[in-house]
Amino acid sequence: MDRFDIRGGTRLAGRLSVKGSKNAALPLLAATLLTDEPVTFRHVPDLADIRNMLRLLGELGCQVDSSPATDTDSPGGSVRLHVTDPTVSHARYEIVRTMRASISALGPMLAKRGYARISLPGGCSIGERPVDLHLRGLQALGADITLDSGDIIARVPKAHGKAGRLRGARIFLGGPFGSTVLGTANVMCAAALAEGTTVIESAACEPEVVDVANLLIAMGARITGAGSPRITIHGVERLRGADHTVIPDRIEAGTYMCAALITNGDITLDNCPADALMAHMDRLTHAGGHFETDDKKDPMRTTVRCQGAGTRGIQPIEVTTQPHPGFPTDLQAQLMAVLTLADGNSVITERIFTERFLHVAELSRMGANLFRQGPTVIVSGVRRLVGAPVMASDLRASACLVLAGLAAEGTTVVNRVYHLDRGYERMEDRLRALGANIERVNEKEPAISA
Ligand code: EPU
Repeated sequence: MDRFDIRGGTRLAGRLSVKGSKNAALPLLAATLLTDEPVTFRHVPDLADIRNMLRLLGELGCQVDSSPATDTDSPGGSVRLHVTDPTVSHARYEIVRTMRASISALGPMLAKRGYARISLPGGCSIGERPVDLHLRGLQALGADITLDSGDIIARVPKAHGKAGRLRGARIFLGGPFGSTVLGTANVMCAAALAEGTTVIESAACEPEVVDVANLLIAMGARITGAGSPRITIHGVERLRGADHTVIPDRIEAGTYMCAALITNGDITLDNCPADALMAHMDRLTHAGGHFETDDKKDPMRTTVRCQGAGTRGIQPIEVTTQPHPGFPTDLQAQLMAVLTLADGNSVITERIFTERFLHVAELSRMGANLFRQGPTVIVSGVRRLVGAPVMASDLRASACLVLAGLAAEGTTVVNRVYHLDRGYERMEDRLRALGANIERVNEKEPAISA
């Protein structure tokens, strides 16, 4: 297992190109199961979660041909997927337990093959993550769903003894914490091949859902309204192959924006989805950051210069996570790292995953002054953080600790960075290119005492 050793205190400066989005790529790759023709994806990031999804798709009968990016600063490599053997339709626990997004295979496989068996994702370090809305949506389309030995078994009932088809329906996908991103993608994929029209009400509006809709449209699906709370899908009989470029990763971009703020740096991000980061940039601007966006470029792939707060210092703010276009839960931990050094008290409320606070205790070990009550954390700004050995068993919490380490005095040792590797490609190389003093160390070597 690897760890990062970070010597903090360097002001980061330079230029980075944002990688393709992990959370868009995962359901996009799974949507390949909807067609017999090859689908090519570009700007696919090289991440552990993506490799797991490709392994799963391989088990489900896809031929996988990957071409890694030739240039390390490019947004990602390309992957060509082609279903050549649809006989195995079982996503086994061994894969699902490493990656919850395996659930994305459910809707496509059910709609195309009439049958899908997927291990039920278990608990997760960021809290309880049920899939009831996914199942409710697919049942509304006519699927028979049962549970057996920890697996979800979904079937399209036969019609007159022959293979049947899902049927379009009006479906409400709102839950106690808003809509569901992967659930919306799952139901939208299944409805694309259903008979008749489906209307998803309270659909997730996240840009990753729009990217999946754009792929499906390129494959021949008839979909309108993606990006709004009502998506309408007129089912078609078959979908064809396509060539699709994955959107840039808004969470990776937002994390490097936080790096600019916490180190009082100056980072220019190319291929930046500024249009999908309005709430984040608004909050960081209130905290003292400064952003210049190139208005002449596509707002989903533009250039943004991000600068820290200068001599004024980081200002305290209030932030509440919400479904898109609100402030994303996937940036809450990183923003908390920034606010630990603000000049006053900030209030952070988590409304999507109310237990997503694994970073709180670890940040406290670095000298942050945090008080949590339920889904809210009061962050009382301190003048300095002090390096310490830390660990978090969740991707974004680990990113938060790296950010804190960049600003802390002395050495921070972030253990078990495999969590980070799930969602950030070569983070240490990218930070080092900006001037950070950070090394990846194999844990067998003794840790630097911090
Ligand atoms: N929920 C339900 N029932 C469901 C599904 C979700 O109650 O059937 C609840 C969840 O417990 C949560 C809320 O609804 O409170 C939103 O969950 P959602 O289904 O939208 O999450 P997801 O689709 O499983 C994706 C991202 C997460 C991100 C969330 C929210 C991927 C692979 N994952 O998960 O990303 O936090 O949307 O935006 O796209 C990450 O990248 O670190 C990460 C966790």
